Amino acid sequence: LVGVCALSLAACGGKEDDTLTMATNAEFPPYEYYENDEIVGIDVEIATAIAEELGMKLEVEDMAFDSVIPAVSSGKADIGVAGMTVDPDRLESVNFSDTYADASQVIIVKEDSAIAGPADLEGKSIGVQLGTTGDTYSSENVKDAKVEQYSKGFEAVQALTQGKIDAVVIDSHTAKEFVKEAEGLKILDEPLTEEEYAIAIAKDNKELME
Ligand code: ARG
Repeated sequence: LVGVCALSLAACGGKEDDTLTMATNAEFPPYEYYENDEIVGIDVEIATAIAEELGMKLEVEDMAFDSVIPAVSSGKADIGVAGMTVDPDRLESVNFSDTYADASQVIIVKEDSAIAGPADLEGKSIGVQLGTTGDTYSSENVKDAKVEQYSKGFEAVQALTQGKIDAVVIDSHTAKEFVKEAEGLKILDEPLTEEEYAIAIAKDNKELME
């Protein structure tokens, strides 16, 4: 990558040759979130290590979650690191690195909720983060669900606390962080999916992929 960029800025999407640009959505603890004004988390640490290995400086760009793949496929960002699940639809627009974490979609409900497992979601209002696998799963697999899409996962959790929706479907590790920060909520034991996270890279960026 460094060599290609040195020859032509255009090959690097107009970015400087010593900068590795990471597209993310910093609303996803413990993978990416704000600590004061700084974006921190597991994904930022992984990307920092990769940049270091390549002799580059990491630049983190925060955006809506559903903008991460377009940013990578258009070359605006070099990598998408956002607790991003590998899935067949996304593989049509980008390549994925080796996977680096396992996750699952889980259900968050109020402590006194009658919803005890996946089957009880039928016909319920479910909060999700827009464009996530939790969104797709709920829309495609839960019968008669009323899926409410929020731009941030924590907004869905707040809506649940306020009694505006019946449940939230979100990634397991992030669910734990959000439930710690909220009151009167619990995570149900039975997961809905099994997923793996990987880094998204533009299909034509074979050098960085390697
Ligand atoms: N793993 C889920 C997905 O790929 C959710 C990822 C949300 N990540 C984020 N940074 N908000 O759809």
